[in-house]
Amino acid sequence: MASLTSFFNPKSIAIIGASKSPEKIGNVIVKNILSSGYTGKVFPINPREKEINGLLCYPSINIAPAPVELAVISVPSSMVLDVAKDCGKNGVNNLVVITAGFKETGKEGLRLEKKLAGICHQYKMQMLGPNCVGFMDTHTPINASFAAGFPLKGEIAFISQSGAMVISILDWSFSAGLGFSKFISLGNKANLTEAHFIEHAADDPHTKVILCYIEDVENGTLFLETARRASRKKPLIILKSGTSQAGARAASSHTGALAGSDLAYEAAFRQSGVIRVRSMPELFDLAIAFANQPIPRGERVAIVTNSGGPGIVATDNIELKNLKMAHFSRDTIKQLSQRLPGESNIYNPVDVLGDAKAERYRLAMDKVMADQGVDSTVVLLCAGGVTEPVETARAIIEVSKNYPEKPLVAAFMGGEQVAEGAKTLAAARIPCFTFPEPAISSISGMVSYARFRDLPKDDAVLSYENIDKKTVKSILDQVKTDNRLVLLGSEAAKLINAYGIPAATTILATQPEEAADMAEKIGYPVVLKVASPKIMHKTDVGGVKSGLESFEEVRKGFIEIMEKIQIYMPRVAVYGVEVQKMMPKGIELIIGMTRDIQFGPLIAFGLGGIYVNLIKDVSFRLTHGLSVREMKKLISETKAYSLLRGYRGEPPADIEAIVEVIGRFTKLVTDFPEITEVDINPIFAYNKGVSAVDVKITVS
Ligand code: COA
Repeated sequence: MASLTSFFNPKSIAIIGASKSPEKIGNVIVKNILSSGYTGKVFPINPREKEINGLLCYPSINIAPAPVELAVISVPSSMVLDVAKDCGKNGVNNLVVITAGFKETGKEGLRLEKKLAGICHQYKMQMLGPNCVGFMDTHTPINASFAAGFPLKGEIAFISQSGAMVISILDWSFSAGLGFSKFISLGNKANLTEAHFIEHAADDPHTKVILCYIEDVENGTLFLETARRASRKKPLIILKSGTSQAGARAASSHTGALAGSDLAYEAAFRQSGVIRVRSMPELFDLAIAFANQPIPRGERVAIVTNSGGPGIVATDNIELKNLKMAHFSRDTIKQLSQRLPGESNIYNPVDVLGDAKAERYRLAMDKVMADQGVDSTVVLLCAGGVTEPVETARAIIEVSKNYPEKPLVAAFMGGEQVAEGAKTLAAARIPCFTFPEPAISSISGMVSYARFRDLPKDDAVLSYENIDKKTVKSILDQVKTDNRLVLLGSEAAKLINAYGIPAATTILATQPEEAADMAEKIGYPVVLKVASPKIMHKTDVGGVKSGLESFEEVRKGFIEIMEKIQIYMPRVAVYGVEVQKMMPKGIELIIGMTRDIQFGPLIAFGLGGIYVNLIKDVSFRLTHGLSVREMKKLISETKAYSLLRGYRGEPPADIEAIVEVIGRFTKLVTDFPEITEVDINPIFAYNKGVSAVDVKITVS
C-alpha cells in the first residue's frame, strides 16, 4: 500500500474552489487550514479572486507558484473531473474531494465517480472522497475539512464513513475533553478506503487506538489483511452499521454501498482481531479506556465499592463479559480485615461501606491493587451524605500512579453530587462512568484485545497431499457442458474425494440390473437415491431406499424409486439412481460453504442431520487466511464439540481428521471460485476418520 505520509503532512496545499463568501465551504476550508496552525504553503485557487483570507489567490492550479502536495477540491461536481485532471498534470499527489453528487446519487453519479477514480489511477494520485468532510490531523497540525472546530490533541484516530458522524463527534469531543490524533471522513471511498487509513494509523506514532464507523468495507481481502496486521499493533475498534435488514437498505441508499451479510462481517472482525462494538457510546467508552489506561495482563478484576447493590451488578457483569473475579491473597485479606471496619466485606467485591470517605477508599484500593492476583480494578462510588467524591477521586488518582501497569476504571453513580469527582478522574485520564456496566465492558474489551494480541502468530500456509485438481476440473466442465448448476450426488462425492475428503462410495446406475451389479461390487448394505439435480428433498417423493441387502432388493428398489418419481414428479429430468455404500452411523456433522460478495467463501461447521435449521448449532469462518488454530476454535465453539470429545462415556471422535477435512474443504472452495455453495450434510465423524454421506454442490 502506498504511503500516506505526504497526505497527512503535505508541504503545500491548494484549495480549489476557495471562496471569499463566508457561507461557502470553500471559504471555511481556507479558514480551517489557517487556524489549525498548519505551517506549509497555502494556495487558494479561484479564477475570480485576487486574494482570499489575506492569501494571494491563483486562477488555476496550472499557475500555482510551487509544487502542490495536497489539493482540496470544493467545486461543483460538473467541474471536478477537469480540476482533478489539472491536478494530475501538475504533479499533485494527494486529493481531498469534498464535492457531493457522485455514486450516492445513482447511475450517473456512479459513472462520474468511476471517471474520477480513473483520473486518480492515471496520474497516480491518492484521493479521499468524493462526498466527504475532509480530514484533520492534530499532530501535523492540519485541518483540511469544513467541520466547525479543530479537535484537541490526543491519541485516538477516528475513521468514519459518515461525514455527519465526524462533525457531531468532533463537537461532542470538546465537551467530553477528548483528544484525537486524526479525524478522517471517508466519503464514497472511490480511491482511498478504510484499509489504507487503518494501515497508516497502525504505524502512526501519535495514534494509540483506532476507531472506525463503517457501513461496508470496500475490498474484503484487503480489509482482512490490513485489520489483522493492525490489530497486532494496536486496538482497532469498529462500529459497523447496517446489520439489520432495514439498516442494510439505509446503508445502500446512504453511500450507494452494497452491504455484505452481517455474518461474514462478524467472522471477518473476529478473525482479524477487530473489537466489534454495537453502539456509539460503547465505541467511545472503549476508546477512552484504551487511550488512557494500560492494557490488562489478565482477566482477574477487583471491585471496590461503597454499596452492595452496584457491587453485585458489577460482579454479575464480570461473569457475563467473560472476566473473572480476582481472588485475593491471604495477606491482602489480612490487611483489609485489620484496617477496614468490621462490617466491611473484605473479599471481592470489597465493600468499604456507605460512610466511606476518601481515606478508606485509598486504603482499600492500595491493598487490592498491590495484590498479584489482581489484573484490573473497578472503583464504584454511590453519592451519599458523607461521601467525598472529589477527595476520593484524588485518592484514586494517587493510588493508581503506584500501579501504572494495572488498568483502573471508575463508576461514580449520581448526578450533581459526583459530577466534580468524575471530572477530576477524567482529567487525570481515569475513565469514569455513571454506571458499573460500561466500566466492566471497557475492561472486557481491553482483555479480549490482549488475548488476541498475545496469541502466537499462526500464519502457516496449509499444504495437503493427494489433491487432484484435474478430476475436479473435469467434473465441473461436464456440469457446465450439461448446462447444469447442481452436481449429481455421485459427481459431488467424487469431487470432494479428489481433494482427499472421504466420502461414501456413490455410483450412478441407469438400469435396475446395473444398480444391482454395482451393489455387488460395493458390498452390502447399500442405499439407493434418485439422481436428479432438480429433486432437493428426495425422501419426500419416495426417492430413497436404505438398508438394501441383496441383488434382488436393489433391482426392485431401483424400479420402485423410478415408479414413485413418475407419479410425484413426472416432468423432472432423472439421470438414474445412485447406489451408495451404506456407512455405519457416526456423529452427524455439517460442513458447508456459501460465498460472500465482500469476503469470499464463508464456511459453516456444526451439528448436522435433518434438524440443522432447527437446532442451529453452527459456527462460521471466512476461509481467507484461515489457520489451523481458527479451525480448531470453529469446532470447539459448537455444542457438537461436546459430542465429539466423547459424551457420556462414548469414545471421542477423530477431531484431527475433522480439522484436516475443514482444511481440505477450505482449499477446494478457494481453488474453484465457480463453486458457489456446498452442503456436506451429514458427514459422519467416527472414532477413527470421517465419511461424507450427502454432498450437495452448486456452481455459478
Ligand atoms: N477552479 C477554482 N475555483 C472555481 C472553479 C475552478 N475551476 N470553478 C468555480 N470556482 C469557484 C467558484 O467561482 C466559487 O467561488 P466564488 O464564491 O468566489 O464564486 C467556488 O469555486 C465554489 O463554487 P460554487 O459554484 O459557488 O459552489 P458551492 O461552493 O456553492 O458548492 C460544493 C460547491 C462542492 C460545496 C457543492 O457542490 C457540494 O458538493 N456540496 C455538498 C458538500 C458535501 O456535503 N459533501 C459531503 C459531506 S459528508
